[in-house]
Amino acid sequence: MKLQHIKQAISDAKNQNHFTSLPPSFLKVDIPISASNTKSGQDDNNSITARIEHFSTPLPPTLLYQCLRIFEENMGDLYRQSSWGLDMKEKRKEFVHDDARFLVILTEENAFNRTKSDVNGSEISQSTNAKSEPTVLGFVHYRFEPDDEDDPIAPVSYVYELQIQAMQQKSGLGKRLMSIVELLALKCRMEKVMLTVFKMNTKALGFYLHKMNYEVDECSPSNFQGEENENCDYEILSKSLVVRSK
Ligand SMILES: CC(C)(COP(=O)(O)OP(=O)(O)OC[C@H]1O[C@@H](n2cnc3c(N)ncnc32)[C@H](O)[C@@H]1OP(=O)(O)O)[C@@H](O)C(=O)NCCC(=O)NCCS
Repeated sequence: MKLQHIKQAISDAKNQNHFTSLPPSFLKVDIPISASNTKSGQDDNNSITARIEHFSTPLPPTLLYQCLRIFEENMGDLYRQSSWGLDMKEKRKEFVHDDARFLVILTEENAFNRTKSDVNGSEISQSTNAKSEPTVLGFVHYRFEPDDEDDPIAPVSYVYELQIQAMQQKSGLGKRLMSIVELLALKCRMEKVMLTVFKMNTKALGFYLHKMNYEVDECSPSNFQGEENENCDYEILSKSLVVRSK
């Protein structure tokens, strides 16, 4: 694809909002809960219904705060061990970038019991009424971009972050968010969904490669020779959304 067409496809994608055309049932998720994490300690249905909402940047401050906190809880150790290190100021900048798009799984605040430190310890809850805020159970941050900054050949949806709160993992939420990202990418005529994952994040690698059918992308460092590439601690994965004629 010519550079001009790639730029046009990305610009068109940024101006479209296909999220509103998705079936409402696809944007609701039933989450099983044990009695120990309900507010009263009891729950008649043993599940709560959460909703998925779409946001362009900026995220409302309370949601931004919760997303950053989930990121730090899930990924802090991995980033500290990685060649990148953990820099929450940089991560925050990434989250408020003009091109950032988010799918956020939300439930009403009183569905889960919040700890004292959740409510009292955050800068957000001091300035807003925390009781009326929904709780973030997970989110995906994605952007419409060229596949390669230096030598672009296709417009893609790039997943910058997929994070599910620890207690809600393995309940189908990650799969649902990735499915929506793929559907939106397809509707926006993106050619691939791409993402970066640490090699040491074996759980996420297993999820993408074996459950979501992603492959190591041709541009991933592991496809290139040289000490720097071989010692690189991340892989670039992708799923193609186009069928190429041979
Ligand atoms: C990786 C992650 C996003 C997966 O989301 P999730 O909601 O836990 O996964 P799901 O429940 O949607 O799982 C979908 C399928 O993958 C499987 N799966 C999920 N995690 C798995 C794991 N660690 N190992 C093997 N299979 C796994 C599930 O069993 C399920 O299989 P099924 O469809 O046959 O039932 C989530 O665990 C997470 O947030 N991890 C921490 C943050 C992280 O590493 N993010 C990725 C950064 S690149």
